[in-house]
Amino acid sequence: MGAAAERPSCVVLLGAPGSGKGTQAALLAGELGVPAVSTGDMLRQAVADSSPLGGQVERLLAAGELVDDRTMARVVEERLQQPDAARGFILDGYPRTRVQADDLEAILGRRSRCLDAVVRLAVPEAELIARALGRKRADDDEKVVRRRLEVYRRRTAPLVEYYREQGLLREVDGHQPVEAVAASVRQALAEGNGWC
Ligand code: AP5
Repeated sequence: MGAAAERPSCVVLLGAPGSGKGTQAALLAGELGVPAVSTGDMLRQAVADSSPLGGQVERLLAAGELVDDRTMARVVEERLQQPDAARGFILDGYPRTRVQADDLEAILGRRSRCLDAVVRLAVPEAELIARALGRKRADDDEKVVRRRLEVYRRRTAPLVEYYREQGLLREVDGHQPVEAVAASVRQALAEGNGWC
């Protein structure tokens, strides 16, 4: 099989708030020629547009709480149906619960696709808080950041084991300079064996 055929195209980036998912998703998307799909960006855009979805989720984003799984499944399925995602995607921020992981599998199954890999970015908590507080997004005040971390630990972190059991997990040290993390992500994907 040629190198191009082995390139992963359906990838999930998993990690705590501030672990660098968005940063690495953009770099990897450019490299693989597939879109970075950030559920956080889509929800923030909906709020900025004052759309019905935005009205529904605004309070939850501001509080650092998760949007319900059913709404997220609809948002993600609509996004993955866009032509630019026909060849694949880098998912940043989805799935975040076990139900969302099942929903993603169903969404991909309806398109005869499956995940190639789930890359986990591991970063110490003190660094996560420092990054978020240094950025000053609307949901980056300390109380909300700590709540987002708590929600991550309780609802999302169990997906690490889930995807490890599936043989899809690739672990990357996210506590390095951006370019070094990107190189580690590339290496982790090259070493992977979960291609469809
Ligand atoms: P979302 O936008 O996904 O936020 P998050 O998970 O809290 O992640 P962040 O965007 O804070 O961090 P990141 O890991 O992307 O890191 P980034 O690259 O930005 O979600 C926001 C909200 O939307 C949620 O709280 C929830 O309400 C809702 N939501 C979204 N998806 C949902 C879902 N599936 N289900 C339910 N609700 C959902 O980097 C962070 C900072 O660190 C930046 O300043 C960056 O420049 C810097 N940085 C990045 N990498 C490095 C590095 N290697 N070294 C130093 N600094 C770095």
